[in-house]
Amino acid sequence: MSNTLQKEILKLKEEKNAIILAHNYQPKEVQEIADFLGDSLELCIKASEIDDKDLVIFCGVDFMAETAFILNPDKKIVIPTLEAECPMAHMLPEDVLLKAKEENPDAGVILYVNSIAEAKQHADTLCTSANAVKVAQSLPHDKILFGPDKNLGTHVADKIDKVIIPVPKDGHCYVHRLFHVEDVELKREQYPNAEIICHPECDIKVQKACDKVMSTGGMLKYIATSDKEEFVIGTEIDMITRINAEVPGKKLYPLLEGAICETMKLHTLEKIRDSLVNEAPQVTLPKDVADKSKKAVQHMLDVSK
Ligand code: 13P
Ligand code: SF4
Repeated sequence: MSNTLQKEILKLKEEKNAIILAHNYQPKEVQEIADFLGDSLELCIKASEIDDKDLVIFCGVDFMAETAFILNPDKKIVIPTLEAECPMAHMLPEDVLLKAKEENPDAGVILYVNSIAEAKQHADTLCTSANAVKVAQSLPHDKILFGPDKNLGTHVADKIDKVIIPVPKDGHCYVHRLFHVEDVELKREQYPNAEIICHPECDIKVQKACDKVMSTGGMLKYIATSDKEEFVIGTEIDMITRINAEVPGKKLYPLLEGAICETMKLHTLEKIRDSLVNEAPQVTLPKDVADKSKKAVQHMLDVSK
């Protein structure tokens, strides 16, 4: 690590007894200074284990930092910029979920962790892309309201014998919507020896065209233990940065160069340094919302053990 700002951040981190958590989509310079890197589930689990730190710097998007707050309401959870929002999480407002619940009183409710806390408080449980199928199986209901990601919901419906009702009708991630079946076909021609892996936020037709469908953490573990050498990666571009840093000797190709989650890139080193100095901006939630949402978060963590 040669960057002066990176060194300054590491020094401040020690002085403040802080921990830096970062999602796999963070750019290289942020991945390098993180104490812990992971997918949404791994970050949730880590957030439930932070007992010895006074300050948490969360380099991810809003719903991830909110989940860390739900699990640690007495800790300072700081996000380097509050503008780092996940647009998909905001596609399911509280009133839309409440109306869907009213119309489907016999349905269980699973929300993707990529949702706002005001909606989470009305869910039976949460899921991430790593555990969605397991969580859906854990509910006794035959009918499940699932949101906001319609594609992850279709992925679950494809694997288990339950009725999945998407709420809203077309919740999606704008980054994973960029991938098309034609991109998969093109990469197959270009790299005939490569295995093609995509994220379940992709359209179901893209999922079916790929060889494997996994969360970002799942991709890292799978590639690290696979005998294969070449992979096409169908998710946000910096997932390749993470795998390259940790699994040497593999050839990784992006399914699409332009698959960039813009808000994930807002946490510059300058902003991270400032957030450590100022211990701000803090992520907080009203106590009743945090308390009610915690039940759903905890259910998911228990099912994932
Ligand atoms: P993962 O949990 O697989 O990292 O996915 C989070 C996300 O937002 C993907 O776009
Ligand atoms: Fe949200 Fe998509 Fe970015 Fe993931 S990649 S954080 S779902 S906008």
